[in-house]
Amino acid sequence: MRRLFPPPADDRPESSRTPGGGRWSIEALADAYAYPETATDPDGDGVWLRANMVSSLDGAAYHDGRSQPLSSKADMRVFGVLRGLADAVVVGAQTVRQEGYGPPHEREVFARRRAEAGQGPVPVMAVVSAGLDLDFSQPLFTRPLVPTLLVTGAGAPSDRVAAAREAGAEVVFAGEGATVDPHRLPRALAGRGLRRLLTEGGPRLLGQLVAGGALDELCLTVAPRITSGEASRIVNGPGTEVPVEYALAGVLEEDGFLFTRYRRSGPAPDDGALTPE
Ligand SMILES: NC(=O)c1ccc[n+]([C@@H]2O[C@H](COP(=O)([O-])OP(=O)(O)OC[C@H]3O[C@@H](n4cnc5c(N)ncnc54)[C@H](OP(=O)(O)O)[C@@H]3O)[C@@H](O)[C@H]2O)c1
Repeated sequence: MRRLFPPPADDRPESSRTPGGGRWSIEALADAYAYPETATDPDGDGVWLRANMVSSLDGAAYHDGRSQPLSSKADMRVFGVLRGLADAVVVGAQTVRQEGYGPPHEREVFARRRAEAGQGPVPVMAVVSAGLDLDFSQPLFTRPLVPTLLVTGAGAPSDRVAAAREAGAEVVFAGEGATVDPHRLPRALAGRGLRRLLTEGGPRLLGQLVAGGALDELCLTVAPRITSGEASRIVNGPGTEVPVEYALAGVLEEDGFLFTRYRRSGPAPDDGALTPE
């Protein structure tokens, strides 16, 4: 793994450096991806939402219905580090169904850092769903170290809400109708002390969060692969009236994979800025 941006302080000629930059420790990666200190300052909006996504060179968010064919060992290391830093992982129900999500496991390497940051042993999983057509017998709901949250609208089917609670999930209402209001989602989690947020997608949930002005940061892995086909881009939803501006915050590289990080630098879109579907 080597850092391409910001440029490394090491200005020795390339030929005299460790080939490939050497392997970064998990701790070094965790330092590089630390949440901004001001991010969770209650004087601001008190919450920071970053997304972690992988894309092929031609913009596909998955291949054969999974993101794994686009990933790599280094990508999974970054994925694990981003989880290790988060208070909560927000994920769309279709990704849970399609990728067979389980509960996060405690990792010794993050234990001290999480304790010092006042975090629980693992991030809270927050599954976003309107229909609640999820298999509540899965370990994600029945055997997490910390209870999984199910974020939904007030109009969610009451029998499914009851089934989720019976399985051990906590149900969070963040919308008046059937769906979750993307403006309210980060605030609903912050109200539970969950301020360092990570979303792992998928594209339709991310589309809602971008349109709702909730996305502060995008960690995008660019995989050196082309898939063609009909797969969605990493953000899928109604277009914003004008493109939302993001500024480059970092780029790492390993085996041709680029680990980019962008932070929102312009105004967030609001509902009024959405073009009609
Ligand atoms: N490239 C990557 O980094 C990456 C990351 C994640 C996933 N993926 C891939 O993306 C695919 C799945 O993505 P997707 O875009 O189809 O689905 P998704 O975003 O994971 O989930 C969509 C579902 O989330 C729920 N949802 C979204 N917005 C909501 C809202 N405002 N209120 C209530 N519920 C809401 C709904 O669940 P209900 O249907 O239950 O109501 C909706 O059907 C999979 O192939 C997966 O492998 C790729």
